[in-house]
Amino acid sequence: MTDSLVAAARAAQQQAYAPYSRYRVGAALEADDGRVYTGCNVENASYGLTICAERAAVFRAVADGARRFRRAVVVTDSDPPGPPCGACRQVLAEFGDLEVAAVGPRAERRWRLRELLPEAFGAEHVT
Ligand code: THU
Repeated sequence: MTDSLVAAARAAQQQAYAPYSRYRVGAALEADDGRVYTGCNVENASYGLTICAERAAVFRAVADGARRFRRAVVVTDSDPPGPPCGACRQVLAEFGDLEVAAVGPRAERRWRLRELLPEAFGAEHVT
């Protein structure tokens, strides 16, 4: 896949701060109005404080006022390419059922978010 969202995720991957795992991740989110938000993983010496690229992109987007998204792309150097982790699936699900693509050096995979996180916990449960 060579679309501009993949290019944005690849550029974000270059900014990854991953001195501990060396696993560099870039994410790009396309909002409903076409705006693009990117994120990279940011690790920490206190490992548990690491933030994934996908959530970094979501928080950036939400802080900018975006609330609905069409697509997410996650770029890694792994084969097979890395899908969003469970925590990132849950955070993405807050903002709708978008298309998710995982892109690696040799392969790519695509899903709807609801395939990756069926029966998600959501606003309808918090009553
Ligand atoms: N990571 C992400 O950025 N996104 C994911 O969905 C899975 C994992 C990061 C966290 C950590 O910096 C590194 O990948 C290894 O787990």
